[in-house]
Amino acid sequence: MAGVQFKISLPSPPQDPGHTSHSDCSSCSFQKSVMTTFAKSSFDALSYMNFRPSYNKLAMQSFLQHHHGDRLLAVDLGCGPGTATLLLTDCFDQVIGIDPSDSMLVTARSTAKAKGITNVDFVQGSDHKLPLADHSVDLLTIAQSLHWFDPTLFLPEAKRVLKPSGTLVAWGYMYGEIDGHSDLLRQLGRHTTLADYWEPGRTIAEGGCISWLPLFQQYFGHVQHFSYPTKLTPMSQIQHPPWMDPSELTYPGLVQYTKTWSCYKNWKDDPANANQPDVIDAFFQANLRHTSESTYRIQWPHSIILAQFE
Ligand SMILES: C[S@@+](CC[C@H](N)C(=O)[O-])C[C@H]1O[C@@H](n2cnc3c(N)ncnc32)[C@H](O)[C@@H]1O
Repeated sequence: MAGVQFKISLPSPPQDPGHTSHSDCSSCSFQKSVMTTFAKSSFDALSYMNFRPSYNKLAMQSFLQHHHGDRLLAVDLGCGPGTATLLLTDCFDQVIGIDPSDSMLVTARSTAKAKGITNVDFVQGSDHKLPLADHSVDLLTIAQSLHWFDPTLFLPEAKRVLKPSGTLVAWGYMYGEIDGHSDLLRQLGRHTTLADYWEPGRTIAEGGCISWLPLFQQYFGHVQHFSYPTKLTPMSQIQHPPWMDPSELTYPGLVQYTKTWSCYKNWKDDPANANQPDVIDAFFQANLRHTSESTYRIQWPHSIILAQFE
């Protein structure tokens, strides 16, 4: 199946005549409605791709065991630089990554090209209006993006585009836990000035989006929840083996990872911080003994919602 390519026609996202890109376009309703930190043209999508954790191949195998429909079309919504999207290209005839952010899409396309992957398209769109035909999608994945969505708009769209035999898998990870410093990243995100710069969906993400399980149950007849390393709800099953890579980070890698957080981008963009010492550098200098050679073992607690119509 991998590498088999067939043409599908993709309607364009809604746009005014003459628009080819939506970033920084203040008059455009599409961009205004989905503008996020990651959609700013100054956002560094390459750094995001290089320093964020990724999902291992076991993740794909693990949820594909639950998917009994076709493997013609998989869609990864909120695809970012294509971290999960590209993993799907081995398992589906055609894969589409959708994201509102130009810089994420540019990075995703160039990564696919560099890897010689031809059965993938990256298109602009958002949770509330998917550029996809009714009942056309076999698998819809959402990796670390659900908390950016409006579930009341997204869930009807998911129901519209999925085939009756389709599967929706939404997963995300919480603060990574460093061996011997398990609370350090949580401290950085919650108890420094960065805490004021997260988007509203952050609290939902930190809880593994489990508060949305009842909403999923309204739209899907069969909803399962998996989590690692502990059960997040009574209905949860422990996810083994864990999905996330890497299990070890260098000191520079750790710092660079935290600098991909949207709150850090927002903090940097706030003129009030122009003359402040870098909040992340200062935090690690004060709280983590290190040399530039230091490495840290890390585990990534994660949460997975798997939803099917029956
Ligand atoms: C934390 S990143 C996750 C990227 C990638 N899926 C990953 O696993 O690393 C969240 C992504 O969701 C996208 N996003 C934000 N709001 C969105 C929306 N309303 N609809 C679809 N995607 C959205 C952002 O542009 C960003 O690329």
